[in-house]
Amino acid sequence: MRTFPRDPLVASAEAAFVRRFGRKPRFAAAAPGRVNLIGEHTDYNEGFVLPMAIDRRAVIVGDRAARDRSTFWSVDLDQVAEADLTAQLAPQPRGFANYLLGVADQWNAAGYRLPNLDVVIQSSVPIGAGLASSAAVEVAFAHLLQQVTGAAMSPLDLALLCRRAEHSFPGTPCGIMDMLVATHARPGHAMLIDCRSNQVQAIPLPPPDRASFLIADTGVRHDLADGAYAERRGRCAAAASRLGLPSLRDARRGMPAAGSMPAAELAAALHVLAENERTLVAAAAIATGDLEALGALMFDSHESLRDLLDVSCPELDVLVEAAAALRGAGVYGARMTGAGMGGCAVVLCRPDALDQVTAALERATRDRFVRAADCFAVAPSGPAGGIP
Ligand code: GLA
Repeated sequence: MRTFPRDPLVASAEAAFVRRFGRKPRFAAAAPGRVNLIGEHTDYNEGFVLPMAIDRRAVIVGDRAARDRSTFWSVDLDQVAEADLTAQLAPQPRGFANYLLGVADQWNAAGYRLPNLDVVIQSSVPIGAGLASSAAVEVAFAHLLQQVTGAAMSPLDLALLCRRAEHSFPGTPCGIMDMLVATHARPGHAMLIDCRSNQVQAIPLPPPDRASFLIADTGVRHDLADGAYAERRGRCAAAASRLGLPSLRDARRGMPAAGSMPAAELAAALHVLAENERTLVAAAAIATGDLEALGALMFDSHESLRDLLDVSCPELDVLVEAAAALRGAGVYGARMTGAGMGGCAVVLCRPDALDQVTAALERATRDRFVRAADCFAVAPSGPAGGIP
């Protein structure tokens, strides 16, 4: 079974468990968030994505419950939820517990009999910011349940189980990217994922003294389940069916004829077609260390998400514009990352320019929106695992 390194977040979650339940937890697991470098709104179109796991993670610690109900405590939200894992599970009206209950329900569906558990969650992935905070919780909990049951699932099976969990309990019709990068990540690498075959290829990133990845969090929060994401997914499916294709993965240049379909569907098809091409070219650019080429593709991706799929927002656009103003002065590229409509932008820059770029992004957002973006650098990190 994979293992995850101990770190201060693990110690903090363990201490929280001791405070609440009066004993030490027996099980512990963690899973990373991710930043998608390029390949956005392509995974549910069976396309290509190029994310990397980040050094921000969800940690879950637990033990068999002391009574005949499970108790879940989210330290970050300071919320407690309860459920009986030995009975038929149903989604709760709202809240973080659905990410855990969805996974437990899949576990039961796979024929395991779960005991009730006492569980504490603590995460350093900003919640709902486009950095896959929910997949991190789901994948970490799936690893914890492997420890509890003694099961050993393949990373792919674990990822597929967690996606089913997300679809069924929180009810978000997400793609497979977030789960696959959490289960397959490699330190120092981006992961090129073919979301049709679910094949994952590790692409070595330039060393930390050549390239930095800066996240700028707008503080604007989307609720994925809220409809806009599902609407874009529906738009893409409608475009594929109008084109007579199994999915937009199969779209080819020249195929969607202007006027032959609604403008929004045509635009979605054009985005997915070009974004898939960009993602493959980006992986090749990383492999040859061509950061200028990678950066240019990131800017193109942002424009396409803004203009063709309409999933950006003014805060993200201001961040990307501020980064673009430093092109040639330390910035290689920038784009929104994740589902969009808020959340984060990612900037690829020279390490010696980090402070200057951070100051420029903070200034630009403060000037325009009062609240400055929260900027932090992330490092390409490893996969989920149990914590020994
Ligand atoms: C969210 C989903 C992913 C993916 C991105 C957009 O993060 O969870 O599956 O669709 O949006 O690329």
